[in-house]
Amino acid sequence: MESPFKENILKGKVAVITGGASGIGFEISTQFGKHGASVALMGRRKQVVDSAVSVLQSLGIPAVGFPGDVRKQEDAARVLESTYKHFGKIDILVNAAAGNFLVAAEDLSPNGFRTVLDIDSVGTFTMCHEALKYLKKGAQGRTTSTGGTVLNISATLHYTAAWYQIHVAAAKAAVDSVTRNLALEWGTDYDIRVNGIAPGPIADTPGMSKLDPEEINSKARESMPLYKFGEKWDIAMAAVYLVSDAVVQFFVAKYVNGDTLVVDGGLWLSRPRH
Ligand code: HXC
Repeated sequence: MESPFKENILKGKVAVITGGASGIGFEISTQFGKHGASVALMGRRKQVVDSAVSVLQSLGIPAVGFPGDVRKQEDAARVLESTYKHFGKIDILVNAAAGNFLVAAEDLSPNGFRTVLDIDSVGTFTMCHEALKYLKKGAQGRTTSTGGTVLNISATLHYTAAWYQIHVAAAKAAVDSVTRNLALEWGTDYDIRVNGIAPGPIADTPGMSKLDPEEINSKARESMPLYKFGEKWDIAMAAVYLVSDAVVQFFVAKYVNGDTLVVDGGLWLSRPRH
């Protein structure tokens, strides 16, 4: 699909994308690259990261990959430092790494609950925390007078409640809080914009193949009139918009801070009342 944005809208920007080698994260990496950014992908599986980087490079996108786990502070610091050394600055951090599985609350161990919070919530905070020194206004290598920008990938599960997703709903609620609090503190102190995207069900992603077995899918479609899949492209375009200084219709992205943009076709509004 043709992009609604100018192809150089992210020209000269350097982005670090956690979970950037697969699913929604990879589409964000690709679209950032196609719009002029250099990208550094972070992921736990080296092979997956390496092959994603090859694909991006074959498209002419300046891309590097660093294996790492967002649960480890030293990995976060290393990946950000390596990106800085490679590209000379960091403008954008996207937190797209996430863990997920379907399980009833009564069958979920506290450690299973904690594991997903560690990846999604603590991991997001850790990446932001370690990235601050690169994103601050005036940080070395940054050419603009403003700070960088952070984008956290969230969900809509916690707006109501979601079956077998107590751990993910709690984790994403915390992510949304991190988005708002960092937007407040870092927007004020360092001119860093921090926003989120809450995707609905997106086709062809590891999340959906894990979470949406056929029977759940058809049940959801019966009870939720707005149930339809989005495409990874929809999320990536929202991401390009939020990290850019784009002026889209009457909406100026450079003044959007602390928001989480819901991109789900209105699905969360249609959750049935029981
Ligand atoms: C119950 C489970 C479980 C499962 C793990 N655990 N899988 N419990 N059902 N299917 C429990 C384990 O028993 C253990 O607790 C604890 O979690 C840690 O498990 P490990 O296997 O040691 O953890 P780890 O190897 O670190 O893997 C964590 C992981 C992760 C969360 C399972 O590997 C993962 O999910 N990766 C997939 C990434 C993914 O799907 N990304 C897309 C996200 S989509 P005990 O007590 O036994 O020690 C997304 C969309 C949300 O986020 C919104 C959708 C609409």
